[in-house]
Amino acid sequence: MTLSDSILAQPMTIGGLTIKNRFVRSATAERLARKDGSFGDKMVDLYRTLAGGGTGLIITGHSFVRLDGKASARMSGIDTDDKVPLWRKVTDAVHDTDAKIAIQINHAGRQTTEATIGEQPMAPSPVPMEATGTTPRELTRDDILGIIDAYAQAARRAKEAGFDAVQLHGAHGYLISQFNSPYLNIRDDEWGGSPGNRRRFVLAVYDAVRGAVGESFPVFIKINCRDCVDGGLEPEESSRIAAALVEKGLCAVEISGGTGDVWNEIIRTDVRPGKNEAYFELHAKPFRETIDAPLMLVGGMRSPSVMERIVSQGVADFVSLCRPLIREPDLPAQILAGRTEPAKCISCTKCMATRTCHQERKNPTRNRHD
Ligand SMILES: Cc1cc2nc3c(=O)[nH]c(=O)nc-3n(C[C@H](O)[C@H](O)[C@H](O)COP(=O)(O)O)c2cc1C
Repeated sequence: MTLSDSILAQPMTIGGLTIKNRFVRSATAERLARKDGSFGDKMVDLYRTLAGGGTGLIITGHSFVRLDGKASARMSGIDTDDKVPLWRKVTDAVHDTDAKIAIQINHAGRQTTEATIGEQPMAPSPVPMEATGTTPRELTRDDILGIIDAYAQAARRAKEAGFDAVQLHGAHGYLISQFNSPYLNIRDDEWGGSPGNRRRFVLAVYDAVRGAVGESFPVFIKINCRDCVDGGLEPEESSRIAAALVEKGLCAVEISGGTGDVWNEIIRTDVRPGKNEAYFELHAKPFRETIDAPLMLVGGMRSPSVMERIVSQGVADFVSLCRPLIREPDLPAQILAGRTEPAKCISCTKCMATRTCHQERKNPTRNRHD
């Protein structure tokens, strides 16, 4: 297959933004920031490298909208106006190429620790987290309105910093995902309980963000198809949430799954090329049937032939990659030039700790999947 034959090489427009091909770099926390979420030129270098590697749309790692929503040490922030010039350097570096860049904005809710944010983490409901030993405090109504405003201010800054779009992090058990989830949101006020009440938060965040960036700026979401826990969010409800957002003007939906209670569902380590790739593929169908907007699928895509099939069969419009681009930032360019062998990433997930590829350092030339 050559560049001109592959559907992966075809441009597609999302909310007025033309993406040159069907490769997305899924949000990947960089671990390059200082305690306050500011950062230096290593961040710029990372995004310059990715942009040079052929990816059409790059989504940054999640960036906190307020310091009390910081998920982990070395996470970046978009919580203050003085970070706009820092992010401007990143967007300028990407725009030296014909790639596009979106920022993923997030509030961690319960998925953080007191040591990280200096206070008790907060959540829709005080559901304890075994992994961290944290029991969050329940958000008050005023807290909720304050956080919604923080998302809007973060989105405004993103636009000022030259981003082409913002992506709401509505997946993986962070705050938006906590509100959507029946097992994490057991409130009995207007922000919880029924499906309509649980989705009120994400709809309000979307409205506030839209109000801050104006009608023509693209806003996306990464959303859980499933929480992958008993009593969690399932595709039928989650596709309806996404549809409600699209009706309001949301431009694209990236499908993922899992929460911080089940990390291995988000980032599976058992991916075998040609055998069990694209591990959320089965759950993309209800989204395809319900939503009239471009879909991105993330999770375990390793073989160019599988990526091609996902897009040519219309399972999704974009293939979204995380770990493979940590190992090989120029993988999209290689695939578009005709590479047929799978990504070198073996899904060991040691990059969770280091953000660099452990295997790459050990065996730079081997393509080992066993
Ligand atoms: C090192 C690392 C950092 C990640 N950071 C984020 C993040 O900031 N936001 C997010 O939505 N997902 C994050 N993820 C999840 C990935 O975007 C993706 O959903 C998951 O790794 C599955 O895709 P893959 O098989 O292509 O790696 C991260 C994953 C890894 C391994």
